[in-house]
Amino acid sequence: IASYAQELKLALHQYPNFPSEGILFEDFLPIFRNPGLFKKLVDAFKLHLEEAFPETKIDYIIGLESRGFLFGPTLAMALDVGFVPVRKAGKLPGECAQASYEKEYGTDVFEMQKNAIPVGSNVVIVDDIIATGGSAVAAGELVDQIGANILEYDFVMELDFLKGRDKLNAPVFTLLNAQQEALKK
Ligand code: PRP
Ligand code: MG
Repeated sequence: IASYAQELKLALHQYPNFPSEGILFEDFLPIFRNPGLFKKLVDAFKLHLEEAFPETKIDYIIGLESRGFLFGPTLAMALDVGFVPVRKAGKLPGECAQASYEKEYGTDVFEMQKNAIPVGSNVVIVDDIIATGGSAVAAGELVDQIGANILEYDFVMELDFLKGRDKLNAPVFTLLNAQQEALKK
């Protein structure tokens, strides 16, 4: 896993001052342009989860719109488990659970279909990055409302200086330690 992570980290592309002044944006899209790297990304999470939960059956991977959709379904297929999306409000048909979270400008709402997973399912929530943790907390609330059990949160990257992981009440695994600070202006 460590050697995969090292290789994956080299593929990240940094964009200073995007999406706003003072932010160093870590773009992980180059990983997907290279099938070998994409496979290593999925394999790294798969190996980790098999190691972390040898006795527990994972039932679903829950991916967060949008960037959690880029690898969540592929990971689910590699693990031979289902995939369920958490979407931004107004996109999903049927009865939905809702949870709001703070964004840089105002509040956003996440939704999940209430009939998507049976009560008591074991799920892993995945996304590209944890920053403040707001999105992940909201996704966790949805899973709680539905009565499923969060085994772990898995992220490709973590902005550890924001301490987003402290807001989550399940284990957190991040593949890459993107130990960066906001760009000094
Ligand atoms: C980004 C990122 C994470 C979230 C992390 O998503 O993909 O989902 O922010 O931030 P947080 O920990 O402070 O909540 P964003 O909502 O910008 O949209 P996208 O995934 O649709 O690009
Ligand atoms: Mg996102």
